[in-house]
Amino acid sequence: MSVTAREKLLRRINDKSARIGIVGLGYVGLPLMLDFSEAGFPVLGFDIDPRKIDFLNTGKSYFVHIPDSRVASATERGMAATTQYSRAGETDVMIMCLPTPLNRDREPDLSFVIGSLEGILPFLHPDQLICLESTTYPGTTDEEIKPRIESRGLKVGSDVFLVFSPEREDPGNAQYSMRNTPKVIGGTTPACLEVGSALYGKITEQVVPVSSTKAAELTKLLENIYRAVNIGLINELKMVAERMDIDIWEVIDAAATKPYGFTPFYPGPGYGGHCIPIDPFYLTWKARTYGIETRLIEVAGDINTAMPAWVVGKAADALHAQGKTLECAQVLVLGVAYKKNVDDVRESPGIKILQTLQDRGAVVCYSDPYVPILRRMREHDLKLASVEIDTALLSRMDCIIVATDHDAFDYAFIQTHAKLIIDTRGRYRGNFENVVKC
Ligand SMILES: NC(=O)c1ccc[n+]([C@@H]2O[C@H](COP(=O)([O-])OP(=O)(O)OC[C@H]3O[C@@H](n4cnc5c(N)ncnc54)[C@H](O)[C@@H]3O)[C@@H](O)[C@H]2O)c1
Repeated sequence: MSVTAREKLLRRINDKSARIGIVGLGYVGLPLMLDFSEAGFPVLGFDIDPRKIDFLNTGKSYFVHIPDSRVASATERGMAATTQYSRAGETDVMIMCLPTPLNRDREPDLSFVIGSLEGILPFLHPDQLICLESTTYPGTTDEEIKPRIESRGLKVGSDVFLVFSPEREDPGNAQYSMRNTPKVIGGTTPACLEVGSALYGKITEQVVPVSSTKAAELTKLLENIYRAVNIGLINELKMVAERMDIDIWEVIDAAATKPYGFTPFYPGPGYGGHCIPIDPFYLTWKARTYGIETRLIEVAGDINTAMPAWVVGKAADALHAQGKTLECAQVLVLGVAYKKNVDDVRESPGIKILQTLQDRGAVVCYSDPYVPILRRMREHDLKLASVEIDTALLSRMDCIIVATDHDAFDYAFIQTHAKLIIDTRGRYRGNFENVVKC
């Protein structure tokens, strides 16, 4: 009896001879590639950025939270990277970790996913598993990926296998890694799900199968929408509490003592990163094609995106109370990464605060040990480099805005020497004359 594609692939996965290709070696793709290498699989990475390929092939990391030694060990084990899509023909598994941003009309932009798929398509062959990990709207895998693969004459479910398995990468999280974070997966057919589950079961303790790729796609969106909506809620409550002269941080701490039915979310200067500000609008867009308006998601988005301007307004008010104007002030922004202890500035509220301050005429600078210079971005070109914090700098500044609460900052030292601090992260819990909680 001839061996089926499914049996062949399962055998190669089980004896770890299956060659794993990862397309898109960013915040998601690189750690995944290392996980498979550390689990004993041969791995080959694909990216269009030759700088990343050079780094990896010489055993170096380009992310602060991934040490060179981890990449170097994988390179010694044979891990390699390439810009050549033609090498997709050498792999048994192709996992796609491409960006899924919004376009200028705030609609899903699948061009990175489709562009790379078109690139590897001529080299796909029978007995291959294709996985999509990029966050996207329900229906993408079956409506956009499957027909393109089948246009090559490969039948999904018998010749090749297709799954969607959303990434849950949390850069910088020391407690949860791929191994101890359950991995959700949906297959286009039951055979796809079986093959995909066998693969991910090699790098994670718990695979969570769901009945379709659509269900897996919506699972990821639910996780991120849950965060976006709750962040919007707490930012709204923060503004109410401030008017009522109530400390929202005290209230959250008190509410969090409830042992059931409450999960604390914390206010801040707005939200950032590649996921939370973007992903909810993938669902909003798709829901509209079904005639449904996702009002709660939209309102949370409005509240969160208004936060950087609200913070700048608070800074202007506090300066005014000291007889100064924002337009003539020198302002230091502490932290421009979108969250603490990482180097990612995508969609960061700290950048939006800097931009708004600059637009209003303030003299701005920033300090961020993870972001030595601010490169040109799609919507911002601030031409700034991180400054060192010392007493001379702190006493020169009219205002300091804590936008990202990196652990590396010496908050007591900063408070001792600052004229005015706008604290958006609840870093200063007591009462200080020079601190405005915001
Ligand atoms: N960053 C996170 O923490 C995180 C967490 C969960 C899910 N996600 C999702 O995972 C996906 C990837 O996000 P990311 O943060 O890794 O993005 P990223 O921008 O860090 O990495 C994407 C990589 O893809 C490469 N690339 C772009 N076009 C390409 C092409 N045509 N061919 C090959 N490579 C190409 C880029 O050079 C880059 O290295 C997104 O859908 C995102 O929403 C991200």
